[in-house]
Amino acid sequence: MEVIIVDNAEQVGRIAADKVIENLDGLVTPVLGLATGSSPLSLYAELARRSKEGLFDFSHALGFALDEYVGIDPEHPESYRNVIHRTVVEPLGMDPNRVRVPNGFADDLQAAADEYDEAIEAAGGVDVQILGIGSNGHIGFNEPFSSFSSRTRVEILTAQTREDNARFFNSLDEVPTHCMTQGLGTIMDSRVAVMVVTGEHKADAVAAMVEGPVSQVMPASILQFHPNCIVIVDDAAASKLKYADQFRAEYELKQQLEAKA
Ligand code: F6R
Repeated sequence: MEVIIVDNAEQVGRIAADKVIENLDGLVTPVLGLATGSSPLSLYAELARRSKEGLFDFSHALGFALDEYVGIDPEHPESYRNVIHRTVVEPLGMDPNRVRVPNGFADDLQAAADEYDEAIEAAGGVDVQILGIGSNGHIGFNEPFSSFSSRTRVEILTAQTREDNARFFNSLDEVPTHCMTQGLGTIMDSRVAVMVVTGEHKADAVAAMVEGPVSQVMPASILQFHPNCIVIVDDAAASKLKYADQFRAEYELKQQLEAKA
């Protein structure tokens, strides 16, 4: 796990965009794993800018969203189908027919979840998975005690997650209680994982994920075993990392070596 600490959200977005594009560049059919929420917005804004300037063409990429609410009206502006369309597909110039979101509206939810995993496999797997982290350490909507080998499935949202996401709805009661999420096993199969985190309210989760034990109580800690996971955080989100100075020094050295190469 590589940890990159920068000053602010704008820099998080810029460096994360470099990592995403570096790892998609040259692929015939790049496959992008997409997170929703506030964390990746500066990254999507930067990717949109590069797309508009002709620096990268996303029109041939495939996209798979991490999760979707179950039981929300599909036309609701906060259904992840709509959020992904508004914040990713349109601004990046992706082809809407090549971007999928788990079907939280299916009659047979588990069949839809199995089919989603099969579609990811048929696409050749996710090349770059964009991630945020919940204040309770979830990734996707894999809440504490999700199995490390879990695949796409229906999950119950914790009270903490529903409270955190209430800001997108008129009231806490409106926040769905269930979701369909890619599993931790599904996420771990991605070739590169790029996590973006900003704000002091995520500092405990970041410290536990990076420096704590790998434990089901902190689902994101499984990323310590990911073969190529890059975590990009601002100073506030890094404020509880004991090894922050070490991470800063390592990143500086890497940049110096890259500049010389
Ligand atoms: C969203 C998702 C979640 C969020 C997490 C952080 O698709 O999978 O894991 O990344 O809840 O959300 P924000 O970024 O809104 O704080």
